[in-house]
Amino acid sequence: MAERAIPPRVVAAERVASEAGFKKSCIPEVGRLLRLAAAAKPQGVIAESGTGSGVGTAWLHAGLGSGARLVTVERDEELARRAAGVFAEDRRVSVLTGDWRLLERHAPFDVFFCDGGGKRDDPQRVVELLAPGGLLILDDFTPSPDWPPRFGGEVDELRLFYLTHPALDATEVLTTPASSVVVAARRLRP
Ligand SMILES: C[S@@+](CC[C@H](N)C(=O)[O-])C[C@H]1O[C@@H](n2cnc3c(N)ncnc32)[C@H](O)[C@@H]1O
Repeated sequence: MAERAIPPRVVAAERVASEAGFKKSCIPEVGRLLRLAAAAKPQGVIAESGTGSGVGTAWLHAGLGSGARLVTVERDEELARRAAGVFAEDRRVSVLTGDWRLLERHAPFDVFFCDGGGKRDDPQRVVELLAPGGLLILDDFTPSPDWPPRFGGEVDELRLFYLTHPALDATEVLTTPASSVVVAARRLRP
């Protein structure tokens, strides 16, 4: 069977990752979910914390509507500079350099891929930055057969926070047999 297509900018961002020795890019299974989420909000503000080399950004970009904007932030200056080069000719995309809180001035977000900054250090703020109906995507969890979910034998309090937050409709979805994402939508009313 033929391989599933990888968008050209994802290929470009993967090349940047390999040149920079960056090994934390999202996997295509997550990428396709990012593209889907961006495509669901064609006029939306799409945000990402932790650009890395731009692989996740490129998947979001693959679903980006003509009326949408994509803003991503990376604290590593060299990575941010290199990733920005992948999107240089698209005015809908802004690659910011610095701490993830630089994103705040672009909120509320219709899609937020929270992948570097915020996810662990200020999860409540992450939820607050979502627009009503806004989608939150968090990757790199390890599937757990238990409820509440466990990681390394302990209750995974962070995952539990997102999965049970009163402002969110949230669920966990397998991306591979060994990895999962939390996907959530902010409720229209608290
Ligand atoms: C998992 S990687 C990002 C991968 C990328 N989102 C992708 O899907 O290909 C996490 C990135 O977040 C960045 N990061 C970590 N903490 C940050 C913070 N507080 N503000 C901005 N960037 C941060 C790291 O430098 C790293 O490049």
